[in-house]
Amino acid sequence: ASTLGAAAAQSGRYFGTAIASGKLGDGNYTGIANREFNMITAENEMKIDATEPNQGQFNFNNADRIYNWATQNGKRMRGHTLAWHSQQPGWMQSLSGNSLRQAMINHINGVMAHYKGKIPYWDVVNEAYADGNSGGRRDSNLQRTGNDWIEVAFRTARAADPAAKLCYNDYNIDNWSWAKTQGVYNMVRDFKSRGVPIDCVGLQSHFNSNSPYNSNYRTTISQFAALGVDVAITELDIQGGSSSTYASVVNDCLAVSRCIGITVWGVRDSDSWLGANTSPLLFDSNGNKKAAYNSVLNALNAA
Ligand code: G3I
Repeated sequence: ASTLGAAAAQSGRYFGTAIASGKLGDGNYTGIANREFNMITAENEMKIDATEPNQGQFNFNNADRIYNWATQNGKRMRGHTLAWHSQQPGWMQSLSGNSLRQAMINHINGVMAHYKGKIPYWDVVNEAYADGNSGGRRDSNLQRTGNDWIEVAFRTARAADPAAKLCYNDYNIDNWSWAKTQGVYNMVRDFKSRGVPIDCVGLQSHFNSNSPYNSNYRTTISQFAALGVDVAITELDIQGGSSSTYASVVNDCLAVSRCIGITVWGVRDSDSWLGANTSPLLFDSNGNKKAAYNSVLNALNAA
């Protein structure tokens, strides 16, 4: 196959990208995105501050612009994200205790109702684990409402849209030897054993010199999959853009049947949150295919 999406589809997987609503008028950007990718994540537009800027008043204007562009072009979407310590609107940042817990529940219900039956995967909870060696939860206003906030979020999401696959999404859970990975693994194992609804784990996979790709990535993917959840690579970018590292990531996903797809976190280097100078993506800032693109396409086609 000659595009990333079609090549991934040969093994029943998808290949996605993050899309920013402010760039939908850029024909170079949308041309590449439409041609190459078949799964879309809104880079910021479905986050809490965007969708509920005032408490109880939902705004889906920019989220729907991306949703409509995606569906009109035959693409599906990953919903990102419903419960997160970051990018909370000011009103939510100032809440705590029961009122924050109820606001989280209302937010999940409000957003999932708008997209009921339309979004196959939701990042229900994002980045709830701490960096470093504790393997424990990140401190946040949500965490301070009680350790059960994550399972409450997942149970709320299941009831709100029973058709959606519900994912836990985080960064620095790619390396199997890291405490954060083990912390999330233990949570998923506990949820599965107690019947808390969880269907997938998102490995964000932002690789850089502080958190480099490690060959135990394949072990991480297969260990999560063995718990009975799908695994998605949700926000892939590689500082420096190494072709061989990109190929390794793709091959590790292809090696595990429950690794269902790969999403890169932006189209061109100039679209990356990291800045174009780090060369993290598959297209250069002019929209030309990079060596890393060919490496990914070849790996997908060899499957
Ligand atoms: O839209 C405003 C603009 O009006 C304003 O002038 C400008 C001034 O700072 O800010 C603009 O908003 C920025 C927004 O991106 C859109 O460009 C925010 O400041 C900025 O914080 C925001 O950054 C996003 C970041 O999440 C916020 O946490 C990045 O685009 C986005 O790529 C990044 O994505 C996250 C995932 O959601 C979760 N995992 C990590 C990943 C990378 O950080």
